[in-house]
Amino acid sequence: MIKIAILGYGTIGSGVVEVLNTNRESIAKRAGDEIEVKYILDLRDFPGDPMEDKVIHDYNVIAEDPEVQVVVEAMGGVEPAYTFVKRALLAGKNVTTSNKALVAKHGAELIAIAKEQNINFLFEASVGGGIPIIRPLNSSLTADEIEEITGILNGTTNYMLSKMTFEGLEFDDVLKDAQSRGYAEADPTADVEGYDACRKIAILTALVCGQQVDFEDIYTEGISSITADDIKYANAMGRVIKLLATSKKTEEGYCAMVAPFMLSQQHPLYSVNDVFNAIFVHGNVLGDAMFYGSGAGKLPTASAVVADIVDIAKHLHKNILISWSSGKLNLVDSKKAENRFFVRTTEAKERVKSVFGEVEFVEAPDVAGEIGFITGIMTEEAFEEKAEALKNIKQRIRVV
Ligand code: HSE
Repeated sequence: MIKIAILGYGTIGSGVVEVLNTNRESIAKRAGDEIEVKYILDLRDFPGDPMEDKVIHDYNVIAEDPEVQVVVEAMGGVEPAYTFVKRALLAGKNVTTSNKALVAKHGAELIAIAKEQNINFLFEASVGGGIPIIRPLNSSLTADEIEEITGILNGTTNYMLSKMTFEGLEFDDVLKDAQSRGYAEADPTADVEGYDACRKIAILTALVCGQQVDFEDIYTEGISSITADDIKYANAMGRVIKLLATSKKTEEGYCAMVAPFMLSQQHPLYSVNDVFNAIFVHGNVLGDAMFYGSGAGKLPTASAVVADIVDIAKHLHKNILISWSSGKLNLVDSKKAENRFFVRTTEAKERVKSVFGEVEFVEAPDVAGEIGFITGIMTEEAFEEKAEALKNIKQRIRVV
């Protein structure tokens, strides 16, 4: 019997209990042993819940119980998750977490402690919800130099943008709906401003390059400025707007960014809608690969956490090597990134041409008193200079 403790009985923690109950027999077969929840740590009580008698409020009980072999961290946020997880690892307890904020900030250190202790710190659910991506990057795509990793990594914003696209709704109307479905973070600013996707691409980039990537270094824009009129232009061009998190290897090094992009129908992520996430990977020998699936929500995320518990059960006293050192990777300045840009302006066409040169003009039905256009390829820096010279820009969205 493998005894586990779950930290946090919210959406993910209760999902883990549900998955363990639903698939008890097959999970035991795959893990080679029964998995039993010994404790659930939460500030609240849960009268009437079938797990009521497992709920405790003091973390010391878990940290000091030698029977607990696996700690499942499902609290979210950096503290007290970091303190609890570090203490568990130092006490020789394996850990799995769904917490991207924790992994992005302290991943390198926690991985190193697990290695020293010959145990495991696993975090499959921290990126892409139920989609296997951490394990493939760490175990399957190891023959390659990964030259690009681009994903739709936030289910909430993808759900919102899909609703705006298919139902013509405005931003504010779709946010509440996403929250009520359990997709959003406790503070949905993390979703809509791109911070959640930023932490996730920092984790993926760290795994790909084997070094610490500080999420603060990644240029990040969210979707809160996207309007129903932007969607009308995208529709007119046969494009869709998606929040992409991308990391590309250039001659100078890795260049990472989170921002809304207008995607053409040929783009591999064009058809990824609703709460689904997808990650496109290009390796120098593999070529292209795509990972697609349920990117947020209780059971998909819990499925990935329980898969980590099974992996831990199969490697109880053996560290699974994860290449992610604490040495910091210096990212290429995002101002050097090259893109095309869709722009909405109230300036005249002639003036646009005199500043940007040859551009492609676009019209959207029911949008009057302005013009839209797509620039040629230019660096972010060059675009900002031209945009300043043009003035009166209502919107600009990168195009791919
Ligand atoms: N709020 C996150 C999302 C949850 O919407 O993708 C999964 O990390």
